[in-house]
Amino acid sequence: MDVTPGHPAPADHPASADHPALSAQLGEVAFGHFYASALRAVVVHRVADHLAGGPLQPDELARRAGNLHGPTLRRVLRLLATRGVFREDEQGAFELTPVAALLRTDVPDSAHAGMVWLTDAVFRRSAEGLEDALRTGAVPFHTVYGMPFFDYLQANADAQRLFDTGMANMSGPEDELIAEAYEFPATGTVVDVGGGRGGLVRAVLSRNPGLTGVLFDQEQTVAAHLLDAGESAKEIAGRWRTDAGSFFDAVTPGGDLYLLKHILHDWNDEECVRILRAIRAAIPPGGKLLAVDAVLPAGNEPHFAKELDVIMLALVTGRERTEQEFRALLGEAGFRLDRIIPTPGFASIIEAVPV
Ligand SMILES: C[S@@+](CC[C@H](N)C(=O)[O-])C[C@H]1O[C@@H](n2cnc3c(N)ncnc32)[C@H](O)[C@@H]1O
Repeated sequence: MDVTPGHPAPADHPASADHPALSAQLGEVAFGHFYASALRAVVVHRVADHLAGGPLQPDELARRAGNLHGPTLRRVLRLLATRGVFREDEQGAFELTPVAALLRTDVPDSAHAGMVWLTDAVFRRSAEGLEDALRTGAVPFHTVYGMPFFDYLQANADAQRLFDTGMANMSGPEDELIAEAYEFPATGTVVDVGGGRGGLVRAVLSRNPGLTGVLFDQEQTVAAHLLDAGESAKEIAGRWRTDAGSFFDAVTPGGDLYLLKHILHDWNDEECVRILRAIRAAIPPGGKLLAVDAVLPAGNEPHFAKELDVIMLALVTGRERTEQEFRALLGEAGFRLDRIIPTPGFASIIEAVPV
């Protein structure tokens, strides 16, 4: 065997003392889908809601959650408790942890709708398709569902609602971080392109009383906007409007700041350039574009961008990108990447100007 001096020997025959730990590490990765399925089971049955008053024995919890099977619930909760979702006490009762409390449907920061979406069959079935995708390079979602992801949503009102609700739910905390992390101008108009139900427009306008906003998205998404809902509804009243269309054709012209949050990662380079060119045609000189996405770091450390990238691989034509890749993409559409502003979340704000 040819072993380069200074490098460890190939790990194809790990020392026997290491073997149990190494194979447990592999098993942990292989087992991942059981965690997702266990989470889905308790999310769908809204188990966390019934623990709001304190710990309960599994049989009682099962009864209150709608005559579930107590012994099965106990085993599922015991698994989730190993990941900090629920906790079993010395008497065998289960209680909420701070993570599990987010699964309650009746709290303002509830993550319930997001988890219903993230554990949906759309993700599981698409993930199963990765095995074939390694051979074909095709997008698993297209293969399983027979059409591109966003076409499927458009053709299925229930799936569209689930997606829009889940996206708005997951984006809520992030929208606040982004609105906080960027120094917005005192006056002007922000146009959120592909802005979903309007969470980011709401967060930006409520912090910046001199700004007006436009929520731009597809007809069916804009129709279900939440700009007039929640605590900030009064503060931002009269300062926003909606506009519907396809960002591949044209977007609302004349904005001072264009926002593009978690859009570029949905599409391949060619599709991204079409979206960016539509914004380039609409943006006045002196305008700015803020693309918000994860920026892929180098190296092997865990980063949510790497998980998101494989989700994109399974569902859509898009991908997460490195700084260099964003720079090239923006350059091709007539923008110059000026700076990257980190946020306390996983995404960064990529600021670009028309050139
Ligand atoms: C991943 S979501 C991001 C939503 C929002 N920006 C957020 O961060 O929560 C992608 C959005 O792109 C919108 N979208 C997809 N295709 C579109 C198109 N052709 N024109 C305009 N919007 C589109 C979807 O309706 C959806 O709201």
